[in-house]
Amino acid sequence: MSVRLAVFASGGGSNLQALLDRFADTPHAKVALVVSDRSGAGALARAESAGVPALHIPVSGRPDTDVARDTIDALAAERIDLIALAGYLRLVPAPVVEKFHGRIVNIHPALLPAFGGPGMYGRRVHEAVLEAGCCVTGATVHYIDERYDEGRIIAQWPVPVLPGDSAATLAARVLEVEHRIYPAVIDAVARAMAGDRVAVPESRLTATETFQAGDAVPPDDQHIIAIARI
Ligand code: GRF
Repeated sequence: MSVRLAVFASGGGSNLQALLDRFADTPHAKVALVVSDRSGAGALARAESAGVPALHIPVSGRPDTDVARDTIDALAAERIDLIALAGYLRLVPAPVVEKFHGRIVNIHPALLPAFGGPGMYGRRVHEAVLEAGCCVTGATVHYIDERYDEGRIIAQWPVPVLPGDSAATLAARVLEVEHRIYPAVIDAVARAMAGDRVAVPESRLTATETFQAGDAVPPDDQHIIAIARI
């Protein structure tokens, strides 16, 4: 089985690009659809450049039922198995969450459950981390449910907050980790769905040890998947 992945994005889509690059030529998974709530989203342009169907599904001012219907129709038309949210700033309609239960994954630029929830996206997350005086932040990949940022955590990676950091420098350091961890975790989920046997140890010690050793980014997929609990 080859897993057909849909990516939902509202913004520039650098995480989408990381997924497009990862699955450009993989037998077990491909990006088969990109959806955005914004017609001008850079993510749609990236999809078009990669030859992937790109769809604008407007959300503002429309009844949830219409958005849900359009989304479900689009996912069915492309025979989508798995959804990755990559900077998608809307709540996924409940009927879609229900239909794709356990098959929608999100990446959040902090260590959930801290610094998540409504309104916690983009720059605001990193500003809140700095305001709280945290020494450590990170990236979290998690399943989504009907509430913002509350679904089961799959994998996390820590990122140090350094003296003199601004929200912009911190965001850039976290984003670098996101681009490594998200494709690796989606790959592991897709392989599991495709029926491969992927070794997924339960321990998170690898992440802690590596972080204490001073690594700013996860060194390779093996380390990332070692902390995943899929
Ligand atoms: C990323 O920080 C992601 O964690 C968050 O939104 C941002 C999207 O960035 N959910 P990009 O559009 O992928 O560049």
